[in-house]
Amino acid sequence: MPAERLLHFNAFLMSCGHHEAAWRLPESDPSASLDVSYWTNLARIAERGTFDSVFLADGPALWGHARFRPGGALEPTVLLTALAGATSRIGLIATASTSYNHPYNLARRFASLDHVSGGRAGWNIVTTATAAAAQNFGLDDNPAHAERYRRAAEFTDVSIRLWDSWEDGAELGDKAAGVYADDSRIHEVDYQGEFFKVRGPLNVPRSPQGRPLLVQAGSSHDGREFAARYAEAVFTAQQTLGDAQEFYADLKARVRRLGRDPDQVKILPGLVPAIGSTEAEARALEAELEELIIPEYGLAQLAKVLEIPAERLELDRGLPEEVYARPLVEGAQSRFELVTELARRDNLTVRQLIGRLGGGRGHRTFAGTPEQVADTIVEWAEAGAADGFNVMPPVLPSGLEAFTEHVVPLLRQRGVFRTEYTGRTLREHYGIPRPENVFTAARPAARADVA
Ligand SMILES: Cc1cc2nc3c(=O)[nH]c(=O)nc-3n(C[C@H](O)[C@H](O)[C@H](O)COP(=O)(O)O)c2cc1C
Repeated sequence: MPAERLLHFNAFLMSCGHHEAAWRLPESDPSASLDVSYWTNLARIAERGTFDSVFLADGPALWGHARFRPGGALEPTVLLTALAGATSRIGLIATASTSYNHPYNLARRFASLDHVSGGRAGWNIVTTATAAAAQNFGLDDNPAHAERYRRAAEFTDVSIRLWDSWEDGAELGDKAAGVYADDSRIHEVDYQGEFFKVRGPLNVPRSPQGRPLLVQAGSSHDGREFAARYAEAVFTAQQTLGDAQEFYADLKARVRRLGRDPDQVKILPGLVPAIGSTEAEARALEAELEELIIPEYGLAQLAKVLEIPAERLELDRGLPEEVYARPLVEGAQSRFELVTELARRDNLTVRQLIGRLGGGRGHRTFAGTPEQVADTIVEWAEAGAADGFNVMPPVLPSGLEAFTEHVVPLLRQRGVFRTEYTGRTLREHYGIPRPENVFTAARPAARADVA
């Protein structure tokens, strides 16, 4: 397979693993997520497997229900800065909210991470779907879905201008002339929009990648439009091959309609692989984890996605009709649709639904041997459903080790994954070019066709 068609793999790392009961297994340390050496070990395993990147989710609120699952999390850009020093090639993607940050501070943080890591930073741009976050920032409720995405677009526009406010080469460091920087190549951004007024320039010179890799992870109509405009990689939850194909074709078509190259937007559905040396062993791991699910936690999480009180849900009945009758939620729209569709399609009781969501909160779970995992990966890629996968081990570190030691070699043998890193930066791993600076692009004399 030519290099530009190789698959991309992102290791989505989360506390003791993605399964909500992973922390209760004998092998797990419930406090691991506060220990930097735990994350260093995970990042090095992923780097050994030549993953394109590691990724941390985030939100500015205590997620979940601290009584039932390790809930606290270190701030991702801080943690990834430590991981930058402990690794040399793997990309480092942090989630940050456009609803509860300001572009100047955040653009600076990502430019800094890109410098510190030698060009390995990526930003998962999210709008944050929970009211709990809003209530930490002086609001009673989350702003409406459409408003959050409008703000996200503005936030990203401002950030791009801030990253580009220093042209490449603006730093001269000319000691003899006493000129540190060519200030004709450092620009004010002078942005004024609905949400932000920012003068600029940024106080960090342009970073190795020019900008961090821009990643997006919300698959509603507004989320897809946003991704089509800005994203260079897209994380998405898809339960079935058919849904994933529909999403893939739809997003690539939107990208094309905006005049962008669809190959420059990599789509990575989530995959939660329970791996065993036999299928029975993989299923036994899945069953062991399912046994440890705490129904009260599952109910609370489900109620949050559905935006109804948990008391309306009965464990041994289907979802109440009201959830199918209502218009779109204002929180996580695509997740709401996925969960209700899953329950309807497979005719699940609430208890069964909680079991199915326990593995990856709606991401596709798959139990099998390394060969079966490799087969399903190749099948989806060949069927036009994915440019790669967001690998979400149910248990860490063992699930990541199993994938790296046993699935990655099969993918390499089949010629669909790299055997070693050929690039240095995260953009090079994903085959996404370093972007042209918006200030130099706008200058007519700089354009060859005009000169
Ligand atoms: C792989 C993946 C990771 C995500 N990580 C985060 C996250 O860290 N923080 C967050 O607020 N939302 C996260 N989301 C959720 C989405 O960004 C988004 O909030 C949600 O899907 C609602 O978007 P929608 O209404 O466009 O569907 C993630 C989604 C996916 C698919």
